[in-house]
Amino acid sequence: MSTVKATNITWHEGHVSRAEREALLKQKGVLLWFTGLSGSGKSTIAYTLEHALVQRGRLAYVLDGDNIRHGLNKNLGFSAEDRAENIRRIGEVGKLFVDAGVITMTSFISPYRSDRDAARKTVGEGNFFEIFCDTPIEVCEQRDPKGLYKKARAGEIKGFTGIDDPYEAPLNPELVIDNSKCTPQEAAVRLIELLEKHGKISGLKD
Ligand code: ADX
Repeated sequence: MSTVKATNITWHEGHVSRAEREALLKQKGVLLWFTGLSGSGKSTIAYTLEHALVQRGRLAYVLDGDNIRHGLNKNLGFSAEDRAENIRRIGEVGKLFVDAGVITMTSFISPYRSDRDAARKTVGEGNFFEIFCDTPIEVCEQRDPKGLYKKARAGEIKGFTGIDDPYEAPLNPELVIDNSKCTPQEAAVRLIELLEKHGKISGLKD
């Protein structure tokens, strides 16, 4: 838990409601929280879905772990404490995107259940869908798109998730995707169905 240092601050309500923004966008704000090992397909699926939605006239946006660590979270490493702070900040940013009415995807390993549960609480039940990319580690390691598993096995990276750092699988995810058994396009179709089922989007045409 990060220390609260801000004092003498006042919350301001704006003049435009979330519902008004959602009416403008013809969709409901929602956060699809992708979790899974490095190389499990989180970002690929999230970007495929973002593209599919925008092509069909819906506003979607991906917050991606590697990218966010180049900027907002560049002062964080991979200790349990830093990963918790990484996820806490993204939970807060995700909450703002949802309030803006955007269909938001976050693509972070987020290996600790307690961090993901805290993000769920921040964003709020009904706004937060946990998507577990349950791709076997053997497949992730064989793919090794960034060559990091190789480095971790060689001891050049310490504390690499799945090798010498934990990954706690979700207990009740809203959706499980094994990316070794389906294409990113097929995964995106399942996610669109999930969004439609929960009334986040409707009337989507091919
Ligand atoms: S998280 O654990 O805090 O959620 P995040 O998703 O932001 O991680 O970043 C993971 C990415 O950082 C990986 O895809 C990989 O490219 C890179 N990375 C570098 N070091 C590590 C490490 N020790 N463990 C996992 N990923 C790492």
